[in-house]
Amino acid sequence: MVVLSKLKRAGLLGLAVFITQALARVVPEHATIVDRTTASTTTYDFVIAGGGIAGLTVADRLTEDPSVNVLVIEAGPFDQGEDAVLVPGAYNPAAYLWPDLFTVPQEGLNDGVYFAICGRVVGGGSTVNAMIFIRGDKEDYAGWTTLGNPGWSWNDFLPYFEKSENFTFPSASFAAQGNITWNASVHGNAGPVQATYPNYFFPGSGNWFEAVQQAGIAPDTDPNDGSVRGVFWLPLAEDARTRTRSDARINHYDRVIATRPNYHLLPETSVSKILFNSAKKATGVQFVATNGTSAAATTVNASKEVLIAAGGLHTPQLLQLSGIGPKALLTKFGIPVVSNLPGVGQNFQDQPTIPMTYNFTNNVSPNWGSLLNNATYDAEQYALYEADKTGPYTLVRTLSTNFAALALKDITPNYTTIIADALARNPLAYLPEGTDATVAAGYVAQRAVLLGQLAAEAAVGGLHWNTYDTNTLYTFKPFSRGTININSTSILDNPLIDYRTATDPTDIAIYTALLKKSREVMNAPAMAVLGPVEDAPFGSDVTTDAEIQAAILSVMSPTNGHECCTAAALPLALGGVVDPNFQVYGVTGLRVIDISHWPFPVAGAPSATMYATGEKIAVTIKTKYGLS
Ligand SMILES: Cc1cc2nc3c(=O)[nH]c(=O)nc-3n(C[C@H](O)[C@H](O)[C@H](O)COP(=O)(O)OP(=O)(O)OC[C@H]3O[C@@H](n4cnc5c(N)ncnc54)[C@H](O)[C@@H]3O)c2cc1C
Ligand SMILES: *[C@@H]1O[C@H](CO)[C@@H](O)[C@H](O)[C@H]1NC(C)=O
Ligand SMILES: *[C@@H]1O[C@H](CO)[C@@H](O)[C@H](O)[C@H]1NC(C)=O
Ligand SMILES: *[C@@H]1O[C@H](CO)[C@@H](O)[C@H](O)[C@H]1NC(C)=O
Ligand SMILES: *[C@@H]1O[C@H](CO)[C@@H](O)[C@H](O)[C@H]1NC(C)=O
Ligand SMILES: *[C@@H]1O[C@H](CO)[C@@H](O)[C@H](O)[C@H]1NC(C)=O
Ligand SMILES: *[C@@H]1O[C@H](CO)[C@@H](O)[C@H](O)[C@H]1NC(C)=O
Ligand SMILES: *[C@@H]1O[C@H](CO)[C@@H](O)[C@H](O)[C@H]1NC(C)=O
Ligand SMILES: *[C@@H]1O[C@H](CO)[C@@H](O)[C@H](O)[C@H]1NC(C)=O
Ligand SMILES: *[C@@H]1O[C@H](CO)[C@@H](O)[C@H](O)[C@H]1NC(C)=O
Repeated sequence: MVVLSKLKRAGLLGLAVFITQALARVVPEHATIVDRTTASTTTYDFVIAGGGIAGLTVADRLTEDPSVNVLVIEAGPFDQGEDAVLVPGAYNPAAYLWPDLFTVPQEGLNDGVYFAICGRVVGGGSTVNAMIFIRGDKEDYAGWTTLGNPGWSWNDFLPYFEKSENFTFPSASFAAQGNITWNASVHGNAGPVQATYPNYFFPGSGNWFEAVQQAGIAPDTDPNDGSVRGVFWLPLAEDARTRTRSDARINHYDRVIATRPNYHLLPETSVSKILFNSAKKATGVQFVATNGTSAAATTVNASKEVLIAAGGLHTPQLLQLSGIGPKALLTKFGIPVVSNLPGVGQNFQDQPTIPMTYNFTNNVSPNWGSLLNNATYDAEQYALYEADKTGPYTLVRTLSTNFAALALKDITPNYTTIIADALARNPLAYLPEGTDATVAAGYVAQRAVLLGQLAAEAAVGGLHWNTYDTNTLYTFKPFSRGTININSTSILDNPLIDYRTATDPTDIAIYTALLKKSREVMNAPAMAVLGPVEDAPFGSDVTTDAEIQAAILSVMSPTNGHECCTAAALPLALGGVVDPNFQVYGVTGLRVIDISHWPFPVAGAPSATMYATGEKIAVTIKTKYGLS
């Protein structure tokens, strides 16, 4: 999760990249970092397009078998171990985000054009994300199962969640001071992803924790035990020993690479096309230098499978460029059709956010503002972090420690009205023009599941006050659907990115209700004592639903970096792209292993589920080929 205002503060929107002091970590000169010539002259069993969470998790597990050779091709570079990457309190993703990636004008957001937030670096989203490490709700995985994916239930995923992590719990005394609770029975203690809570909290977070309860929201023992509902401490993908980020490069590459001559990685290189033989089996890929400097595309063979892990924005682009996608679109660009799959690039979703800024007439210090505005305090706290790994630098920059996840019934007592209004609408009325009939049928099926969720227990929205000037409203379950379609035949050109945020009126009704609930929290006694005053475009004069909606749409960020669902695992008749084993329909030897295969997002953040999915996919593939 990331808030737009924070990115603005970091100068991201102007792409003014700032890089803080580098730590000692430099890119190791392992033989396993290969150049393009070596890659193209080696035969691999598996070639993976994209070295993010899914790509590196699966590569790590497959290469546990010394007889298997794997190549990961990653568009981005290795990070240089900057504080901005590794130190939570110095978090700034700007250097490793995909540059110049913009949306088409967003019709639901006053035709604004937005920066599309997406990682491009070895580690993918896990290297640039806000480190929040929460799973979805049982209802999410049940919903995916209902939509045609046996084996995807909470009980099916739980062993992989546990396998993926090493969760370190705080001491009993710190937990008591901070109101931290957890459910030890669902956590792993031997997995690669290091997870824990920060070891510091700002005093204002206590006010907020109380105020949320005064507004009727109960504590949640642990958001990672299958129930995401209530107020809880945010678990982070942070190493409790070093108090640094645990990203996929660290936990699924650096951790094992010394003993894996069979695990190759080719950075700064973009897969431009998937290659097929005459029987439509994927046999390899073509690739080019990401910076466009290589003269011609080079190819590499994959004797067993090609695995696509380029993330929610670029996986559909790569599939379309390779002849897998909506026939009319491919034909328009003269691309020979390998598999006519209308669903590729459709069903595009994210988890949009609503940032609200405040002035407080009586805030408690220290808070995030103290770090941002008081250089003495900041220097003191950084020194403390360097010396003994404690203090606010163990928190992600500008995020506080606690979060409230709200089911629709927690957001408004009128939730049945929102559901009834949604049921009364034609579900097809708000889909993109020209949506294929199978994709539309898939949406109708998903919508039935989502409407069930609105009536049930899983969170559809979230609240988070950063202890200083920003209060962010998170949304988890969009009804609006967007599209990713190629705009040229080159992987080096951006696709047309259309989030279509807030084009479905059900979303707007939920956002409006969430905003009113957020005000209830801010006005509850424990927060009221801090004197919160809403900044424009909100404020005490913004009261009617129409006024609230206009203000929301003017500040809303269409992306939280959680782009997904553009190559969905659904039956073909529902516009699906992959089967429950992640295999692309109409061809063989090709799977989509990244977040693109989700039918819809979970009630929380994506990375924990992506690590667990990577573990699950690796077992699926190893079983098929009898690997150890
Ligand atoms: C700024 C930001 C903040 C976020 N905050 C959180 C958070 O706090 N908690 C959370 O759980 N999630 C968060 N997320 C989301 C989460 O990190 C992603 O959902 C997750 O990483 C998706 O995993 P993935 O394996 O599907 O893809 P990714 O991890 O995105 O990996 C895809 C990789 O493919 C590469 N690639 C793309 N195209 C090509 C190509 N043609 N050839 C080769 N390589 C290619 C990309 O460079 C990238 O490295 C955040 C994301 C961002 C961007
Ligand atoms: C890759 O496959 C092609 C076509 O089968 C073949 O000509 C070529 O020699 C292979 N390359 C390597 C390095 O095995
Ligand atoms: C798990 O974390 C603890 C400390 O937080 C550490 O002592 C232990 O070595 C870690 N285990 C693994 C497998 O990473
Ligand atoms: C812990 O809970 C108590 C009781 O609600 C509250 O007074 C205190 O501020 C809370 N502290 C934190 C850090 O949440
Ligand atoms: C812990 O999680 C398990 C698995 O979801 C659940 O059955 C149990 O009720 C949870 N315990 C608590 C105290 O919430
Ligand atoms: C392009 O990237 C390669 C690494 O893939 C690098 O060696 C080269 O210097 C870059 N060229 C330019 C012009 O940036
Ligand atoms: C800035 O921080 C220092 C060190 O913590 C503190 O002594 C000082 O009072 C702070 N200044 C302001 C204006 O808050
Ligand atoms: C619920 O709906 C009623 C009737 O429309 C309205 O008067 C009331 O303000 C609503 N309550 C909330 C919290 O939105
Ligand atoms: C799409 O391609 C056209 C024609 O090349 C170009 O003018 C336009 O800027 C592209 N759109 C985007 C969003 O990249
Ligand atoms: C909040 O404070 C800032 C800086 O002091 C000021 O510019 C702004 O006008 C204030 N906003 C409100 C709503 O009081």
